[in-house]
Amino acid sequence: MYRNGLLMSVLVVVCMSVGLALAADGGNSKKGKYLWKTNCKTCHVEGGGASVLSPSSKTTKEWTEFFDKNTNPVIMEKCKKFPEANLKDIRTYMIEHAKDSDQPETCG
Ligand code: HEC
Repeated sequence: MYRNGLLMSVLVVVCMSVGLALAADGGNSKKGKYLWKTNCKTCHVEGGGASVLSPSSKTTKEWTEFFDKNTNPVIMEKCKKFPEANLKDIRTYMIEHAKDSDQPETCG
């Protein structure tokens, strides 16, 4: 009986963490932040050659549109190098901290 209880608690904890990681669009926000910092911000900073960007540069709607219908050929070229899953993580991070989100982030 005790063992079953323990197993149940472990299962509950596992399900909860998976649920949190999958919140908002199915991507992993933490991973997205890391990917954004290491891959995208190289250009999207002062002096990086592209516009200075952070999650709070755009609203949820604008980010959704950017990732959904990515029609700008320059952006497409950069993003094409990214596996779909990584872009999904970045998308989740951007949307979680968008201009109109609960926690806008400017220094991402
Ligand atoms: C090699 C440099 C480079 C990298 C790396 C790069 N970009 Fe860009 N990005 C550009 C350039 C150049 C433009 C077009 C000019 C501009 O808007 O700054 C652009 C435009 C954009 C725009 C549109 C800007 C606007 O104001 O609407 C977004 C959003 C964007 N990039 C996101 C990303 C994301 C997300 C990544 C990482 C997956 C990324 N970029 C990686 C150079 C880069």
